[in-house]
Amino acid sequence: MIVLGIETSCDETAVGIVQDGSTLLANEVSSSIDLHVAYGGVVPEIAARSHIEVIIPVVEAALKTAFPDEQNPWDRIDAITATYGAGLGGSLLVGVLTARTLAILKNKPLFPANHVLGHVFANFLTESKLPNYALPTRQPQFPMLALIVSGGHTQLAVFKDFFDYTLLGKTRDDAVGEAFDKVAKIIGLPYPGGPSVSAAAVNGDAQKYRLPIAKLDSKYEFSFSGLKTAVLRLAQEQIGQDFTFPSYRIAERLSEAQRDDIAASFQRTAIKTLVDKVDLAIAEFNPGSLVIAGGVAANQELRRQLRELVQRIDSPPSLEYTDIKLCTDNGAMIATLGCFMAEKNQPTADPYSLSIDPSLKM
Ligand code: KG4
Ligand code: ZN
Repeated sequence: MIVLGIETSCDETAVGIVQDGSTLLANEVSSSIDLHVAYGGVVPEIAARSHIEVIIPVVEAALKTAFPDEQNPWDRIDAITATYGAGLGGSLLVGVLTARTLAILKNKPLFPANHVLGHVFANFLTESKLPNYALPTRQPQFPMLALIVSGGHTQLAVFKDFFDYTLLGKTRDDAVGEAFDKVAKIIGLPYPGGPSVSAAAVNGDAQKYRLPIAKLDSKYEFSFSGLKTAVLRLAQEQIGQDFTFPSYRIAERLSEAQRDDIAASFQRTAIKTLVDKVDLAIAEFNPGSLVIAGGVAANQELRRQLRELVQRIDSPPSLEYTDIKLCTDNGAMIATLGCFMAEKNQPTADPYSLSIDPSLKM
């Protein structure tokens, strides 16, 4: 079973091709991020227009990578999957309409993919025909605990089986990746904030500032907006100003050392918030595997704190995370999900009517 997956929920136009839910054949990603940097975040209209421009070349590049010697590479594709939610409406439309058209023209079954589930399924890839992919050696075991952390999502779910899962909790306000992005803006680091904050944090003192961890009534709920506000107040204080001082003028007054210490202290606290909940969930559900999914799974401090956590536990779950290129948005994760949807007889979509769902839940 070979599936082609299309992902256009945000600013990446991405197409992946995966065999049997385990082997990576192609993973082409074209990002419009350079066009958004000047605005400090993704501009939906620019993202959608960029998807239209590049989607067909990206599909063709993926087919060429997977089947370089094949005259008719479509003959090798058994099914198509496309992300239909959650995400930006205009962006999702481009991917879904492309997938619908291809499904009709090439006469292939079409599977509708939930973006967040796709992130989780990226962890099932164990083999790569492409160079430079560091993949786990075995697939995750059920029950599987999944920490899903990206620019749009922060949630913890427990999977009894591939499509039998319970959402334990999610964020009540900002996603953790969003908090990284907003903190970066305050302290004057480039967008996207995840990579730039963690790079600055390497030079900073993570113990320098004490920042708050939200205390919530619900065991598995997350909150990051208070932490972001605490960083804003701390930065204002560090430059000798009060809470009325405009956030966009803070960065230029911070010293490099102050900036790096704030980045490190913020990162340690944000990541600890995640790891504390994972600790609780491991105690309650005793999972065979713990997987981290989504863009923030690329964060080295998260990986470090989780490794430390599983070392402390008596019969710990195996800790799985995939190559960084498969943590951020990509088409291979959607293709992997498609393989399992086909194998487990999940319903296909009507290529004449599949619509998008920008606020799709897990
Ligand atoms: O999964 P993703 O590519 O897109 C969404 O579905 O949101 O995640 C993007 C998010 C951004 O907020 C980015 O700042 C964050 O992931 N991110 C990171 C790192 N790399 C990307 N956050 C923390 N540390 C990183 N190394
Ligand atoms: Zn994502």
